[in-house]
Amino acid sequence: MSEIKENILVTGGAGYIGSHIVRDLGEKGFLPVVYDNLSTGNKKNVLYGDFIEGDISDSTLLKDTIKKYGIKSIIHFAASIVVEESVQNPLKYYENNSVNTFKLIKTCVASGIQNFVFSSTAAVYGTPEKVPVDENAPLNPINPYGKSKLFTEMVLKDTAAALPDFNYIALRYFNVAGSDGKARIGQQYKKPTHLITLALKAALGEYPQLKIFGSDYDTPDGTAVRDYIHTDDLSTAHLLALDYLKKEKKSLVFNCGYGQGSSVREVVDTIKKVTGIDFEVVEAPRRGGDPPQLVADSQLIQKTLGWKPRYNDLEYIIETAWAWEKKLRRED
Ligand code: UFG
Repeated sequence: MSEIKENILVTGGAGYIGSHIVRDLGEKGFLPVVYDNLSTGNKKNVLYGDFIEGDISDSTLLKDTIKKYGIKSIIHFAASIVVEESVQNPLKYYENNSVNTFKLIKTCVASGIQNFVFSSTAAVYGTPEKVPVDENAPLNPINPYGKSKLFTEMVLKDTAAALPDFNYIALRYFNVAGSDGKARIGQQYKKPTHLITLALKAALGEYPQLKIFGSDYDTPDGTAVRDYIHTDDLSTAHLLALDYLKKEKKSLVFNCGYGQGSSVREVVDTIKKVTGIDFEVVEAPRRGGDPPQLVADSQLIQKTLGWKPRYNDLEYIIETAWAWEKKLRRED
């Protein structure tokens, strides 16, 4: 007899990362209920489940949706995510990632939601004293994006401590990249800002060159170092987190990364190798809000949830992102 699996509310499920988790939930027999205001997402990314167009600040629609689908678990992605934009427009970040997410949590609690998976970020660490950074490191975000997410972590922690039936897992993402192995979904922003996407677009000739933001960091080659994690490994972490919350009813915080750093130059060289295209690269000043190095110590999630990275390979990450970019180009 097949097991009947529950409905899972996925805010931001039409976006880049959310849509990968929606795909995996659907493939595992859950019904994802995608709730997205389509500010950066696209309905075409929703491969499974039901879609509701709505904003997380709309408590009435949220309440009705939770009730209609009998939701007990939520995975919350809907957020603004660009570090430099957060420096230029902090109010957007505090409004969306802190104020509106606070409202969402309030609605969830009032509606009897028990399990909350939160997409947090490595940006909560700021400039870590020690790299790889583990979950107990001091939290000193250096940009409004990181601060806006840390606020939500604090709200979740205190709420879970006060309410025995409410638990959460915050996943601190490092640099999420790559896409679905079949190139069905991937990153698609009107104004892309991420390194791999911009470099691939430079390889395709959509941009005249790639700028390296800062070559005077205290790192081996002077450029910033990040821990790039494939969307499919990140997606598995969410499914394991959900399962853990349901079984163990305990709140926890985990890093999601591979424990391996790549510099901007290394990424650019790998992109040139994978694409076989030699695009122009120029050195430019540092970008606002960027820490020099962010690399995860991810032992805790491996031990506690049994998470096993499968795609810890920058070339593979770039190959999948490249397949997606070429597909977007063909569809243009
Ligand atoms: N970079 C360039 N040139 C570009 C774009 C980026 O040199 O054209 C550099 C950045 O300055 C940075 C690195 O490449 O040093 C990575 O930049 P991304 O924009 O790809 O990613 P970020 O590290 O700024 O941020 C990402 C997510 C955040 C998350 C963070 C966690 O966007 O949401 O990873 O590490 F918090």
